[in-house]
Amino acid sequence: MTKLAEDYGEVYSLRLGWSKTVVVNGYKMVKEALVNQAEAFSERPLTPVFHRLNKGQGLILSSGHMWKRQRRFAFTTLKNFGVGKKTLECTILEEIRHLQETIEEEQGRPYDPHFTFNNAVSNIICSVVLGRRYEYSDAHFQEILHLMFEGLYLQGTIWGQLYDAFPAVMRLIPGRHQTLFSNIGKVADFLREEIRQHRQDWDPSAPRDYIDCYLREMEKSKDDALAGFCEENLCYTTLDLFGAGTETTSTTLRWALLYMIKYPQIQEKVQTEIDRVIGQARQPSMEDKPNMPYTDAVIHEVQRMGNIVPLNLPRKTTKDTTLGGYFIPKGTRVIPNLTSVLFDKNEWQTPDTFNPGHFLDAEGQFVRRDAFLPFSAGNRVCLGEQLARMELFLFLTSFLQKYTFSSPEGVEPSFEIQIGITLSPQDFKICAVHR
Ligand code: HEM
Repeated sequence: MTKLAEDYGEVYSLRLGWSKTVVVNGYKMVKEALVNQAEAFSERPLTPVFHRLNKGQGLILSSGHMWKRQRRFAFTTLKNFGVGKKTLECTILEEIRHLQETIEEEQGRPYDPHFTFNNAVSNIICSVVLGRRYEYSDAHFQEILHLMFEGLYLQGTIWGQLYDAFPAVMRLIPGRHQTLFSNIGKVADFLREEIRQHRQDWDPSAPRDYIDCYLREMEKSKDDALAGFCEENLCYTTLDLFGAGTETTSTTLRWALLYMIKYPQIQEKVQTEIDRVIGQARQPSMEDKPNMPYTDAVIHEVQRMGNIVPLNLPRKTTKDTTLGGYFIPKGTRVIPNLTSVLFDKNEWQTPDTFNPGHFLDAEGQFVRRDAFLPFSAGNRVCLGEQLARMELFLFLTSFLQKYTFSSPEGVEPSFEIQIGITLSPQDFKICAVHR
């Protein structure tokens, strides 16, 4: 899609199956759509896959009044349970200690970090949403994480695309698209059971987590049926927070490990900064971040190159509008192509090379870059941005404070990608040697 922009310009349309889609490319045009014309581009299209998943409910796929109310509620509740504050920082650091114990057990031997990292990251959002964490040895929870990963992966593959293009036929025939729906259905059932247990010992005067707060909001919002505060939507919003809060950050951390083993000299520079600012005697804290410009720049560059949500999530126009001189009617599906922003030749000095210098000035101080949009932009910008930033900083600095990462002997790190809804590295093994 980014390549097509070279021939057809920054705004062009494609016919994907039956549906006409407008693709928006490059930082300036994506910003024009998502920020300057935020309201006009703020809905989600109800594609056949999305319709079968939750009929346009939840947080990620809803639109209009329901989306506004659900988003505002989720944002406030996440904040009340410590996102951006010291309380959640303590939970994250506690989880990191658990993860470090499993890394210690490997004693520097090659191991695949995928599902333990996923479990650790997932435990953070679970602590806010479900009020609990899961042991890495919990086989049922590991199974849920596998189902979620495979379900999200399949949505972005040809199976999801074929279902969107030919839903009437695909619904009837076997194929991996059926696995997609059955996997997400099983994860939803797992969350329904958590909700049922919450209801049993629910005390409205002492909410423990997002689910408890939502149960109270259902009572308070009875008069506003369109806001969608009902038990079914509690399941879908919980599923959205659980899915979005697990896969994305954990995939970014895996990219970070890959870049660290590919560029040992960059890993060493981060470790030198950690030793200078934090030392070895205490765990990192978010307060260290302003004093660690190089580490901050490396994390930003990992996110830019990792480009984990390459095509963003699709949008839909709420009214007739014009973009880049083209008329776009109300109800048109739009892809704000984030790959074309994160690799925009007009914005980045060396777009295709891993270069933390993109985020540093001549004095080595951190510089914010407008075209850094891995979390997208505008009124639907990622709801978990602040949480993800905390997690990435604390996980990465804690690891590099304790360990030096490398590839198993004789193995070159592979940057082959797996394309689903997110873009992730192929599974790989690392060695973590105590410093
Ligand atoms: C939406 C990226 C972590 C929750 C999004 C979108 C992107 C994104 C690109 C689409 C925004 C749009 O439509 O314009 C990322 C990245 C992450 C991350 C790169 C980590 C590195 C998280 C976490 C949570 C989360 C930890 C958990 C709270 C959501 C939700 C939405 C969303 C609920 C839907 C927002 C809406 O439609 O209003 N994210 N995300 N994300 N993200 Fe994230």
